[in-house]
Amino acid sequence: MRSRFRSLLVTGGAGFIGSCFIRYGLSKIFGVEKIVNLDALTYAGNMHNLESIQNDTRHVFVQANICDQRTVAQLLKEHQIEAIVHFAAESHVDKSILGPRKFLETNVGGTLALLDLVRLSPQTHFHHVSTDEVYGSLTHQEGSFKETSLYKPNSPYAASKAAADHFVRAYANTYKLSTTVSHCSNNYGPYQHPEKFIPRMIAGCLHKSFLPIYGEGINIRNWLFVEDHVKAIWTILEKGAIGESYAIGGECEKTNIDILYSIIDTFSALKNEDPTELKLLIKKVADRPGHDLRYSIDATKIKKKLGWMPMYGFESSLRETIRWYLEYPKRLEC
Ligand SMILES: NC(=O)c1ccc[n+]([C@@H]2O[C@H](COP(=O)([O-])OP(=O)(O)OC[C@H]3O[C@@H](n4cnc5c(N)ncnc54)[C@H](O)[C@@H]3O)[C@@H](O)[C@H]2O)c1
Repeated sequence: MRSRFRSLLVTGGAGFIGSCFIRYGLSKIFGVEKIVNLDALTYAGNMHNLESIQNDTRHVFVQANICDQRTVAQLLKEHQIEAIVHFAAESHVDKSILGPRKFLETNVGGTLALLDLVRLSPQTHFHHVSTDEVYGSLTHQEGSFKETSLYKPNSPYAASKAAADHFVRAYANTYKLSTTVSHCSNNYGPYQHPEKFIPRMIAGCLHKSFLPIYGEGINIRNWLFVEDHVKAIWTILEKGAIGESYAIGGECEKTNIDILYSIIDTFSALKNEDPTELKLLIKKVADRPGHDLRYSIDATKIKKKLGWMPMYGFESSLRETIRWYLEYPKRLEC
């Protein structure tokens, strides 16, 4: 694959998905001459995610906040940035329920701060990494989310991402900016912060501690291996139509309890242990307030128009993910 842009600014590139996007871009995409990685290194950012590219001179890391317009403006100019790929966000739904304001500041205020700089530099393309959660929740009978689905965010996290999406759309329309937006489903893979469901359960299996599951564990998520997500974003950057949005998702819809059983079975097989004891550690806890029942993605548009396809199967990628955490158990410590 070839990049239309030689010099990119990636925000949140020390996080789970942003770091995968950079590692993938530097190793697999032709034509990338420079990636400036701007990350505030909040609790979620981790410089270890960038170790494999620390000697690559095309990667420039800058610790700064996306709201720091002076620094971002300086970087856009100094590195003649042709595209911004915007991952930086507060990304944990449970944290947004406990303290929504930070989500407003980073996810909405930070996106607005970047957009205002793109207004001054309208030749710079802006790709906004959004989520399927802006569309709310589906019943078992309803179909799947796609690009034309109505916005119905249910958590403060989803509301902040939805508000950011609306600003991207409004700025593109009002100030004639070059933008694209992607809405991806739940990601999993190595390097994910241990606050998130899959690594948290792997940590529980490793430490033989309780495996808490919200409610009856019947909430359904659509899961995508992180490398398939970042490949979709590189595909949008290469071939996506300006002003368009793209839904991205895997062909894997599972209940949380089924995911937990898969983790237990795979973990036990890798460690040569009996899964029965781990299953006894499953503990149903009070449900998350306003917990969305089901997410499902119809990714026909990106498949048909841009030729993207998910490459990784769930079982084998989950095994690789667990194997990675077993090799780096420190990455399971919060
Ligand atoms: N994880 C998923 O399943 C998923 C699915 C769909 C979309 N997304 C979106 O993808 C993006 C990345 O998600 P992730 O899971 O990698 O998140 P993450 O929490 O792992 O990483 C976020 C990164 O952003 C940085 N950051 C936070 N606030 C910042 C600020 N004010 N200035 C600069 N940097 C800041 C953090 O230090 C961290 O490195 C987010 O926008 C998220 O909404 C995530």
